[in-house]
Amino acid sequence: MSFTLNVNGHQHVVDIAGDTPLLWVIRDVIGMTGTKFGCGIAQCGACTVHLDGEPVRSCVLPVSAVGKRAITTIEAVGETDSGKRIQAAWLAVDVVQCGYCQSGQIMSAAALLRRNPAPTDADIDAAMSGNICRCATYVRIRAAIKQAATGNMVVTQAISVSAAGGRK
Ligand code: FES
Ligand code: FES
Repeated sequence: MSFTLNVNGHQHVVDIAGDTPLLWVIRDVIGMTGTKFGCGIAQCGACTVHLDGEPVRSCVLPVSAVGKRAITTIEAVGETDSGKRIQAAWLAVDVVQCGYCQSGQIMSAAALLRRNPAPTDADIDAAMSGNICRCATYVRIRAAIKQAATGNMVVTQAISVSAAGGRK
């Protein structure tokens, strides 16, 4: 079946079974590999993309359910205001460790900042709770989201995850 997808502002016509998860279409058909496969069952957040600015788990979203909604992936989130601020903060705080989870983390954080410009710790924890990081960069993620929210960028050396007590 043929679907016309709006991905990062470009139209892509794909001919594929309607129950194919969007993640497969993005990576294997369109060829954008920044969005990652982790669990495949909506449990880790590695595959997070935006549909009309809202975060979704693309590993469990059938391509037939996308419709005309605009898909934004990690390749273009930096063109949005919240995405640009989140990426700058990620660099300033030096969030990334192995990196595998990070495109999903950034997509969830950018969506949070878009709908809530001044998130509390509880807001951040709620918004980011579905994004798993095996390197436990959670403390730096929270710090980066706060920097992005305030616009007060402070370049830091990597915050020790163990010293900070892992996930807060
Ligand atoms: S790969 Fe989609 S939530 Fe884990
Ligand atoms: S940075 Fe390694 S899994 Fe998150």
